[in-house]
Amino acid sequence: MSKLTVKDISVEGKRVFVRVDFNVPLSQDGEVIDDNKIRSSLPTIQYLLERGSRVILASHLGRPKGQVVEELRMNPVAKRLAELLGREVLKSETVIGEEVEKAVDSLPPGGVLLLENLRFEPGEGKNDPEFAAALSRLADIFVNDAFGTAHRAHASNNGIARYIPAVAGLLMERELISLTKSKENPPSPQVAILGGKKVADKIGVIRYFIGQVDSLLVGGAMANTFLKAKGLSIGDSLYEKDKIELAEEILREMETSKAKVILPSDVVIVKELKADSPFKIVKIDQIPDGWSAVDIGPETVDSYKKVIREAKMILWNGPLGAYEFHPFNRGTEEVAKAIAASDAESIVGGGDIVAALEKMGLSQKMTHISTGGGAILDFWEKETLPGLSVIQDIAKSGVK
Ligand code: 3PG
Repeated sequence: MSKLTVKDISVEGKRVFVRVDFNVPLSQDGEVIDDNKIRSSLPTIQYLLERGSRVILASHLGRPKGQVVEELRMNPVAKRLAELLGREVLKSETVIGEEVEKAVDSLPPGGVLLLENLRFEPGEGKNDPEFAAALSRLADIFVNDAFGTAHRAHASNNGIARYIPAVAGLLMERELISLTKSKENPPSPQVAILGGKKVADKIGVIRYFIGQVDSLLVGGAMANTFLKAKGLSIGDSLYEKDKIELAEEILREMETSKAKVILPSDVVIVKELKADSPFKIVKIDQIPDGWSAVDIGPETVDSYKKVIREAKMILWNGPLGAYEFHPFNRGTEEVAKAIAASDAESIVGGGDIVAALEKMGLSQKMTHISTGGGAILDFWEKETLPGLSVIQDIAKSGVK
């Protein structure tokens, strides 16, 4: 790990601004449905509280685009966090300003204050220096624990580091250690599995993987766009019309790439996508009009399993079928089971697939489940991320 963490500096009694990713799903009546992201930052928060820091937590929730959106206030998050910590969590009504400054001033050592949704402020998304400076005035130290937002150049995870020293939190450290291994000297054979709906979201990472890993397995609706680009008739299957040319270009690159790319050879098809819809299993070139591919078929599952059995490192993002609808979760589930049974290191990221693994009870079997969705894709594809580059390097810090 090349970055300084919260363990490398003195935090006793200090005001510590912790950028967390508490962007959690809420129910219609405003309850936190899945508290995984909140739990993931508890080690950092507890570490600071045990040392008498005054902890100022800040996160975004949804995408309110610089405006106050009542349904996206942080109150349900503060409530859940207080339950998990077993202590009082103060919550401010605004992100910056007099009320917040007063609350910080009267925060005792071991006190916790959660700021209002950062994205209510237009300065957050614009990485506005004035807004970043206002955030920095609340604290002595900046701890970035929000891996899930590390791909955004926003004021609370990038701009703020211009004004106060920046270190990684313990969740960030855990993410970086696992993910860095997947980029630097990964054990071989290395296998990447990409699913989900859109090629458009994953162009960069597809290109990175085909040059980096030994095998790339492609499933989900994004595989349909490639199959269509190959000239196959895919019936009424979901695909991206405007990405066909790009898919053709990537297919050409795949012909000479390091990675062997495996697309589905058979699929599960339905006339209507709903749970327990009547279905058929057909070869990829036999999808009739009026039918849509909604999962990889058993022959494809077998070929993926064969590759997985031989892998030493597996990277996975995106479900391989319409996993929300039984039995079209089968391909995703079979692949998850195969990974769970293998002794390869497995790194899995992205909200959909993490939720699918939770539902199957297989999360514990993966080596590392990342809290990053877009962040993990950008981490693989890019040299660095805006939320990481600002964290002090050990080498330059003179601390170690
Ligand atoms: C996520 O849910 O992936 C992170 O919280 C980032 O959210 P964003 O895509 O709205 O920036």
